[in-house]
Amino acid sequence: MAKDVKKRIERLRTEVRRHDYLYYVLNQPEITDRQYDKLFAELKELEQVNPQLITSDSPTQRVSERPLEGFTTVRHAVPMLSMDNTYNADELRAFDERVAKGLGSKDYNYVVELKIDGVAISLRYERGQLITAATRGDGEVGDDVSANVRTIKAVPLVLLGGGEIPDVLEVRGEVYMPTAAFVELNRLRSEAGEPAFANPRNAAAGSLKLLDARITAQRNLAFFAYSIGEISQPLAEGHWQSLQNFKKLGLPVNPNIKKAGDINEVIDICLGWTERRLRLDYLIDGMVIKVNRFDQRDILGATGRAPRWCISYKFPAEQSETTVESIDVQVGKSGILTPVANLAPVQLSGTTVKRATLHNFDELGRLDVRQGDTVVIEKAGEIIPQVVEVKKKLRPARAVRFKVPKKCPNCDSAVAKDENGVYIRCLNPDCLGQLKERLRYFAGRNQMDIEHLGTSLIEQLVDTGLVKNFADLYKLQIADVAVLERMAEKSAANVIEAIEKSKLQPLWRLVAALGIRHIGGQSAQLLAEHFGSLEALMAADEETLAAIDQIGPTMAESVYEYFRNKTNRTIIDELLVTGVKPQRPKAKRGDKFAGKTIVVTGTLENFTRQQAENTIKQAGGKTSSSVSKKTDFVLAGENPGSKHDKARQLGVKVISEKKFLEMLNS
Ligand code: IVH
Repeated sequence: MAKDVKKRIERLRTEVRRHDYLYYVLNQPEITDRQYDKLFAELKELEQVNPQLITSDSPTQRVSERPLEGFTTVRHAVPMLSMDNTYNADELRAFDERVAKGLGSKDYNYVVELKIDGVAISLRYERGQLITAATRGDGEVGDDVSANVRTIKAVPLVLLGGGEIPDVLEVRGEVYMPTAAFVELNRLRSEAGEPAFANPRNAAAGSLKLLDARITAQRNLAFFAYSIGEISQPLAEGHWQSLQNFKKLGLPVNPNIKKAGDINEVIDICLGWTERRLRLDYLIDGMVIKVNRFDQRDILGATGRAPRWCISYKFPAEQSETTVESIDVQVGKSGILTPVANLAPVQLSGTTVKRATLHNFDELGRLDVRQGDTVVIEKAGEIIPQVVEVKKKLRPARAVRFKVPKKCPNCDSAVAKDENGVYIRCLNPDCLGQLKERLRYFAGRNQMDIEHLGTSLIEQLVDTGLVKNFADLYKLQIADVAVLERMAEKSAANVIEAIEKSKLQPLWRLVAALGIRHIGGQSAQLLAEHFGSLEALMAADEETLAAIDQIGPTMAESVYEYFRNKTNRTIIDELLVTGVKPQRPKAKRGDKFAGKTIVVTGTLENFTRQQAENTIKQAGGKTSSSVSKKTDFVLAGENPGSKHDKARQLGVKVISEKKFLEMLNS
């Protein structure tokens, strides 16, 4: 029986890896996402019941539950060099002349690749297993970001292919964030009151430097492999063939690589991407041109920090000029005032741009953007339109400097600048502008997810005085809504039905929907899981909140203060009276050791120490390396040593491995 389970687990792992390969490397999935999820779920379940069979290279083990304290450093076996840049065809020709001169012949060719705009990473595989993943750092020494890189599904934990895998293979490539993932991440961040990332590269870099891999796992990072660091036996004589072999090993290679016989072909390929790149679902900031053969690369060598056999070609940044028709100030859900420039519509990188955020009043002041100004706009990372320059010479004679508002444009109340911050906020808790934004957020897809309750309906509900807070939404009748503009009986009924349905949303959605400062979807999930009910969360003191893993003191204070506010409490009471019934998180099998602190000591039969600790954490428990009065019990294997004695002294319960397994599977 146990043998059958082991076999099934191994079979499932092989299957999942094969489907990862089909999906990420060949781009030819054979099964639907659903079928894949089913395989994965079966594997996960079998491993949960048989934790002693879990291995670190199992596809289920990508995400470490234990946050890091910091990053250790890794010395690259072969330095990670940088590249020289070119900006036009002439500079590319000059590069080619240097190559021809260096080789003393014209007998060479190039590989042309996209220059992915992400973060360079070195993956070290030993005997086919991913051992470390490190950032470039200063080229010699980088940060060990293995825990985070392991969460990227496109990065194989185990190389594929029997027998032909070099003992040591350092694969280099780019971790990047696809555009759609970047836009979605920024949307979520701005909803949670967190600053947006300026571009996908920063977002990818930030995601790799998180101490908690569980958050990285949600960032939808991707990966392309494009070169080799250390290697124990060569994969091929040239780069092109190496990349083909990468694919056989299960490593994703960008599908747009091209061979070029001479520099004219290189130039054609590069220019061909000037427009085409805007249709990719990730950003590239140029092209990379590499001499193909490795022996020729050796002859060419490197200058300082960059090799002579490779060069990048950078696209000119796309910009447009337009005029500022007006400057608006918008009020956000937490009262932040944001200046926005309304522009004469203009084409930029494939879209029509009519508005550009000016971020905050410090930035607006720095640029000194005025109504009537001619401005240069650029898309930050090709995505968010930004004003980068004001053409002061073209400024109309009477243009006046934009005044930082002293009052809220929506409710006329006083505003104040955040202490040590850049934001200016409306201080009026009853500001209708803020209320509209709060309601929009409450009903949003990632919160209470109330279909049909859109911006214009919310505007009307607030303006007519029908809705003054979240609870009022649940008191609405079809007749109230049906009389509003653009609302027929049927659509009114749909809205009311959607509102009604949201009453039974899970607790975390309600916690997120309240719009508590610093609390986004993820932290709401942590809170909901920890407390299990709204009542328990509301009663929690600041210390208890701050003690929760990943809830920092700022979040703890914010949650605590939110629930101490009388108005907030009244609204929540009303929500509950109107029938909102947040659903408790389901008790998981993984709650067996919830709230327990366990010390593992001695040699276990079925687990390594690490596996036992992971199992405890998966079951909701905490582990500690030393026995104290706070320890709930000690799991003792063979030769348990001093921790066992200490437990005896303190009267802490000691359990055997057998008992531990029983508790886990009970
Ligand atoms: S090859 C000697 N290929 O560009 C350099 N780099 O500016 C070997 N990059 O740090 C790197 N796409 O992060 C190479 N197809 C590609 C690339 C690429 C993006 C990045 C990489 C490197 C930077 C140099």
